[in-house]
Amino acid sequence: MEQRKLHANGPLCSRIICGAWRWHTISHEQLDRLVQTALDAGIRSFDHADVYGDHSNEELFGQVLRRNPGLRKGMQLITKCGVKFPSTRRPSTRVKHYDTSSKHIIWSVENSLKMLNTDVLDLLLIHRPDPLMDPHEVAEALSSLRSDGKLLHAGVSNFTISQFRMLQSYLSFPLVTNQIEISLSRLDPFFNGDLDFLMEQRVSPMAWSPLGGGKTISADEREVFQMASKYNGTYSQLSLAWIMKHPSTIFPVIGTTKPERIIEAAGSFDIQIDRQDWFGILKWVTGKDVA
Ligand SMILES: NC(=O)c1ccc[n+]([C@@H]2O[C@H](COP(=O)([O-])OP(=O)(O)OC[C@H]3O[C@@H](n4cnc5c(N)ncnc54)[C@H](OP(=O)(O)O)[C@@H]3O)[C@@H](O)[C@H]2O)c1
Repeated sequence: MEQRKLHANGPLCSRIICGAWRWHTISHEQLDRLVQTALDAGIRSFDHADVYGDHSNEELFGQVLRRNPGLRKGMQLITKCGVKFPSTRRPSTRVKHYDTSSKHIIWSVENSLKMLNTDVLDLLLIHRPDPLMDPHEVAEALSSLRSDGKLLHAGVSNFTISQFRMLQSYLSFPLVTNQIEISLSRLDPFFNGDLDFLMEQRVSPMAWSPLGGGKTISADEREVFQMASKYNGTYSQLSLAWIMKHPSTIFPVIGTTKPERIIEAAGSFDIQIDRQDWFGILKWVTGKDVA
């Protein structure tokens, strides 16, 4: 599996990233096996958020590292902050909202470090664009976390082009990614300028729900999608390879809870779809030829 920098300044991540959103649904033993399978397949980057699993998934992952302390060295830990929702674990939150205040970002990172059982985050993403975001405050928080050695890199998620550009203009270091939804069931970024902009910035995108959260994978579609057998791959491998062919160097963030599907996803990296088949798949999804 290729390891590649998101931006010239780093971080070096595996070209396919494992996402932890659904990991509260499996046992500790299954999670240990999932993480080890990913590492064995060369998938060394793990995507978290403070809120995943009703604020429990970072801690579950931290327990994996506690049981296997040697694992941290060979992996990159990514997490997110800024979303708050009512939960028994967060009794003071009355209504779902965003909080990108300096105080909350710093508190959230320090809490994530504790939960993940690590001293430093490789990458922090501001999870959602906050209409009340004060870029001075975000810049102050990120700079202080970086100078304290608690954070190596920063990025964003679900930001528009103007939100990315605005926040970047307040920072003395680069935002290294925008993690956005990209899949065969969400094609907008290919056409709305999001990927063009990231290429202009020399920043690699991350694709969340790259298999559409599993919803595009039905037996019927598998039949229709005969291209997979031409490439000796599966439907999901071809879906990931299709995303990764884009010249913006998209890093898919996969969400499976099954070790065999992690190995399957890793195999997608070796599939090189030719240009005509790429457009053939686009046509199959949109139902029409390009103009
Ligand atoms: N930044 C954001 O706002 C944001 C939002 C959503 C997600 N994310 C990130 O993106 C990650 C991935 O999201 P996702 O879980 O929706 O991604 P996904 O990879 O598109 O979907 C994974 C889901 O598809 C199912 N699936 C069915 N067939 C599969 C196959 N052949 N191979 C793989 N999976 C198959 C999986 O079930 P099994 O578990 O049974 O395999 C799982 O439920 C999350 O973990 C999170 O890190 C970020």
